[in-house]
Amino acid sequence: MKPKVLVGYKSDNFPEDVADGLRPLADVVRVSGDYSGQLSDTVVLLAAGENVNEDFLAKAPKLKLVSRFGVGYDSVDVDACTRHGVYVCHTPDVLSDAVADLTWALILGWMRRIPEADRYTRVEWAKKRKGFPFGWDMGGKTLGLLGLGRIGVEVTKRGRGFGVKMIYYDVVRRQDIEAQYNITYVTFDELLRTSDIISVHVPLISTTKGILSTKQFQMMKKSAIVINTSRGPVIDQKALTEALKSGNIAGAALDVFEIEPAPLTEELFKLDNVIVTPHMASATWETRRKMAERCAESIKAFLEGKRPPFTVPEQKNVTF
Ligand code: DGY
Repeated sequence: MKPKVLVGYKSDNFPEDVADGLRPLADVVRVSGDYSGQLSDTVVLLAAGENVNEDFLAKAPKLKLVSRFGVGYDSVDVDACTRHGVYVCHTPDVLSDAVADLTWALILGWMRRIPEADRYTRVEWAKKRKGFPFGWDMGGKTLGLLGLGRIGVEVTKRGRGFGVKMIYYDVVRRQDIEAQYNITYVTFDELLRTSDIISVHVPLISTTKGILSTKQFQMMKKSAIVINTSRGPVIDQKALTEALKSGNIAGAALDVFEIEPAPLTEELFKLDNVIVTPHMASATWETRRKMAERCAESIKAFLEGKRPPFTVPEQKNVTF
């Protein structure tokens, strides 16, 4: 009997032909709803945003590999997986360009008021009404990156063409990148105080949860905007909503939310100074394919008895 690879319903856009490539080695089962009853004989889980924790692992005694269809793995309890002898893999690098592109789309979209301008053109322009959508220049603005990992670096590369001054804060200093792309390391407080645009590129871990909250919004310029394409919970959403409503900061452009899908009643959706997108930073046809192939590469290697290649950093030196 071939080992069972379960493709969770949250990975429903996982390309069929890439799944087919695994069929000679595995019994690939795609599920379209709750699959807790399917876990007892699952050996590999292809996971999108599922919470893989102790409770989940207790239902999946044969599980040996969780292959995350994405780079962030905050939904997976890696320590618990390691204790249970379960590899955790993800898809680094292949999505950095797409996420950086969307980050810039959100920055430019906010600065040039593209969503409003679209509505204005369709409804108001011919009537010559007031409210022409004047925006703001990029040149001369200070772009502050909170986090300079793979995605932050790609955002930096793109920033060179816009004539912005680039600064960053990260727990790891990147002197190689500073020299190459003319970006300056500053303290967290300085980043908050001096940036016109703050773009968040940190993973969601215990030390980054709520890293931007009331105190941090109060330190920002009143004209500052906040961009988030990382994870919703790194920003205290209630505090952000208050900061936007009270004019403590000028705006935000968000691809990620504390709860996803964000409920239709979400308070942020009522604010005109906010642009929102549905956690789609990596969602291009080309990138999702590359992510799927990377995911499948780890699964295939494992099924062939090799160590899977894209294990998360915490499991770099572990072999089960
Ligand atoms: C990622 O790769 O982590 C994206 O957010 C999609 O889940």
